[in-house]
Amino acid sequence: MARTLEEVISEIKNRLDIVEVVSEQVILKKNGSHYWGLCPFHKEKTPSFSVNPQLGIYKCFGCGEGGDALSFIMKTKNMEFMDVIKELAQKYGIEMPVNFKKSEGSKDLKSQMMLACEKAAIFYHDFLVNHKSEEIKTALEYLTNRSISGEIIDKFTLGLAPKSFTTLYDILKKDFSDEVLEKAGLVLKSKEGRGYIDRFRGRIIIPIRNENGDYVAFGARALTSEQSPKYLNSSDSLIYNKSKLLYGLYTAKDAIKDEDGVILMEGYFDVISAQAHGVENVVGVCGTALTSDHIKLLSRYTKSRRIYLSFDTDSAGQKATDRGATIIREAFEGLGNIKQFDESYISTSQDRYSCEIRVVSPPEGKDPDEFIRTVGAETFKQIVKNAPLLIDFQINNFLKHKKEYKTPQEKLQYVKSFIPVLLEINNEIIRSEYVKMVADAINVDEEALHSEIKKQAYVNSLQPVPEKDAKHFVTKSVSIIEKAQKNLLSVFLVSDSHFTFEQISEMIDNSYFSNETLINVKSTIDKLICTVNNVKELIEQLYTAYIENPDMQLVITDLINIAETFNNLSAEDFQSIIEENIKRIQRCRWEEEKEKMRNLYKNADEDDTEALKIQMQLRDKINNRIKSEKIND
Ligand code: UTP
Ligand code: MN
Repeated sequence: MARTLEEVISEIKNRLDIVEVVSEQVILKKNGSHYWGLCPFHKEKTPSFSVNPQLGIYKCFGCGEGGDALSFIMKTKNMEFMDVIKELAQKYGIEMPVNFKKSEGSKDLKSQMMLACEKAAIFYHDFLVNHKSEEIKTALEYLTNRSISGEIIDKFTLGLAPKSFTTLYDILKKDFSDEVLEKAGLVLKSKEGRGYIDRFRGRIIIPIRNENGDYVAFGARALTSEQSPKYLNSSDSLIYNKSKLLYGLYTAKDAIKDEDGVILMEGYFDVISAQAHGVENVVGVCGTALTSDHIKLLSRYTKSRRIYLSFDTDSAGQKATDRGATIIREAFEGLGNIKQFDESYISTSQDRYSCEIRVVSPPEGKDPDEFIRTVGAETFKQIVKNAPLLIDFQINNFLKHKKEYKTPQEKLQYVKSFIPVLLEINNEIIRSEYVKMVADAINVDEEALHSEIKKQAYVNSLQPVPEKDAKHFVTKSVSIIEKAQKNLLSVFLVSDSHFTFEQISEMIDNSYFSNETLINVKSTIDKLICTVNNVKELIEQLYTAYIENPDMQLVITDLINIAETFNNLSAEDFQSIIEENIKRIQRCRWEEEKEKMRNLYKNADEDDTEALKIQMQLRDKINNRIKSEKIND
């Protein structure tokens, strides 16, 4: 059935559930009629980001961001409006309008870049598997030495970039512009500034695909130890953000859901080895540090948020484990305890507000890739199955060094370094179990350890809470008249008002608005109220009307905030709010006018007839004003 674009958009809006949409990126907790979580638009530790399912909107009291489900998707996924619509239409099986389809092959930059990456991946792969030469032989030998079979090469589309300078460029330039190839990170301007050369040369190519399977970037491993760096990675681009993308997620998705847990590794080949040998719920970070965006991405796939850290067992890997744990904690902070410290420390799919961190640490001291290849995937799976909770892992690591500390002074120092870990256990019973364990193991007095922990807790409580680094606070000082105009406009957005839009419209004249932005919003509201049925729809339409204009969306959010303060009013109170604000606007205007007159008068010459005229005008105005106030009161 053919539809118009408007119908498609409105159908999509009907299907979108703001709580569901936001939950994909933010861990939400219900409180009253709203949901709360940590704002994805600015860094914060306590939730000031709220979702209102009744109105289908979100807003952050910290940074002022706000909007509806569509604008949330646009902002968090950095997508254009029409791309979101296209994607959702496909997801919901809604047919796009016929005339739209024609332009579907539209060559927008991002899809061109993805296509170029895909073509490049196919080229590198084909070069490796379907051709013969000395360099290909070397590459295949290298992969065989790493136990990478032909099957694995196919599954991960592994390839080889030829040593020569322009092989890929010469092929792709037939189909893509230089701009597309350069932005996709496939070619570089040559040093002399004449033409382009291939970015990856003489390396094993590991194509990186996003969640949806699109080819967006590459990791390229050196074939010899002389080549530097060991891995050359694509830089971030319009289609690739390494702090939000996890290597292998596309192929691991289903397994992560099935196992309700995910194993996080450091290297491309760790992920490849694991997935190739049947440990499928594995992803990796791509040549960058773990971020809380990675963790949020993962928490969409594992309901119980069971995350296994399987980093290298060397000291760098151990540091990465500690840092990883901190990042995971930060991602979940403010929304409940990390489950491992809680009474029922095993996560369940019902509990959406916590996560379980476990550490996979094979005894052999190898990275996961080597371990799986030399010891075996089954043993690795067994280690995963028995992986200790982070806290147990930390305690064990800590106790490994106990023999090094003998004197009371040394012991105190030793114990102190471990107190922060114990302090993070909120539950008293669990904490005292661990305290007992540690005290016994290193032979110190249990009570003394308890009191050291209390002391530290007290010191911590005195630390000032760091200020939020909000992107943009919306606390600009607003003039009285602007505030009154905003109040007046927000009256349209009160969800439980006793009046119809038409009735409100009659009470609020266009002439009350002087601020350009607000005049703009008012005229949009005027247009929309003819077609919408309720406040929720009005808000939706407003956000859509300003979908390309984030600043205006902020204004809408501001108005919705104000409107909420007008909830639960009687019809009389509601009306008097309107009247009060109208009066305030008129009074301000009057003051402005008087001021203007006074200035004119001040600047006029003593015996100027002009000055006399102004004086008389002023007197008339004052008289009129007094009269009209008497009538109004
Ligand atoms: P490692 O140095 O531990 O390499 O870096 P690896 O994964 O064990 O690699 P192989 O087994 O020697 O081939 C771990 C990860 O860090 C990134 C890569 O993502 C790598 O997989 N890395 C490392 C880079 O991005 N650049 C480098 O030069 C080195
Ligand atoms: Mn390795």
